[in-house]
Amino acid sequence: MEKWVHGETHEFIDWLDTDGNVINASDGGIIYAEGKYHWYGQALRDLPYDHDGRRNGGVGITGVVMYESEDLLHWRYEGVILACSDDPESELYAPMRFERPKIIYNEKTKQYVLWCHYIRYPGEHGVAAGQGEAGVAVCDKVNGSYRWLGTTRPIDDLGAVRDCTLYKDQDGSAYFIYDRDISTVLEEMNRCLYIVKLSEDYCSWTTEYRRIESAYHREAPAIVYKDGYYYMITSGLTGWNYNQAKYFRSRELLGEWEDMGDPCIEDTEHTTFCTQTTAIFRVEGREDCFIHMAERHNHQHSFLHCSYIWLPIHFGEDHTMSISYLKEWTL
Ligand code: GAL
Repeated sequence: MEKWVHGETHEFIDWLDTDGNVINASDGGIIYAEGKYHWYGQALRDLPYDHDGRRNGGVGITGVVMYESEDLLHWRYEGVILACSDDPESELYAPMRFERPKIIYNEKTKQYVLWCHYIRYPGEHGVAAGQGEAGVAVCDKVNGSYRWLGTTRPIDDLGAVRDCTLYKDQDGSAYFIYDRDISTVLEEMNRCLYIVKLSEDYCSWTTEYRRIESAYHREAPAIVYKDGYYYMITSGLTGWNYNQAKYFRSRELLGEWEDMGDPCIEDTEHTTFCTQTTAIFRVEGREDCFIHMAERHNHQHSFLHCSYIWLPIHFGEDHTMSISYLKEWTL
């Protein structure tokens, strides 16, 4: 790719890797390591959306995959870094889901730590054990084979884990931000975003946490820090269908988060430009260049042809943030 091409807000445009294959790294993120950007996400399938759950392309049979690049445009496929299993006894037996995987590096243990929203075979959302957990895996190389450590539910077993992200603070402490669901049946949707401080090795959680009251019924969180404020972009709860984004800001991660409304400019249909937030990353060597990664999920036709929509974040002097749509651009 020579530039990031998004097209019109209703269009689906494939991005290709350096072998000419469609990039298939859903709802993951980007980590800069060993002089390169590494883009990872869950590999989805070329199946139509359908309600029987079995032919749903949003359920994985491959695992988490990774691509590398020096310029954020040319992506070389690095392979599967966390694989599904074909052993029925395994927790990773496919089809299953590693949704919204996120990776951060721990300087003390020299390990890359991955957290995700884990859903056991056959990959259906639910409230039972195994149907909404945090999954954790580690690796001593950014693009190696991650070792599965297992699943957990932060705070207590009552709260199922849905969409999630990780955030590493300037002091090296790390946080798991997730949509905690205390419903007794899935349809109840008694869900709210929580932020939980992780242990020093980032592999488990501590008892320090906060319920983000203002982010009741929000998901797909992504956090960025700029000039004294943390900003968190989120989506509403409409499954794979896009909806209006909303962001929150706070001076402290475990502090009170203020509802700041929709960051999207001229988004006439209020659909986050027909996307849902994935993650935010900073461009190396440019202190002020943050990119909002989002995804236009193609659940009506083929999950293999979801579109990646990467847009620059603009920060205002009054500590606000905004995002405008670009049909195509480069740095
Ligand atoms: C979305 C969520 C995705 C996935 C999807 C499945 O709301 O953000 O990660 O779980 O629902 O329906």
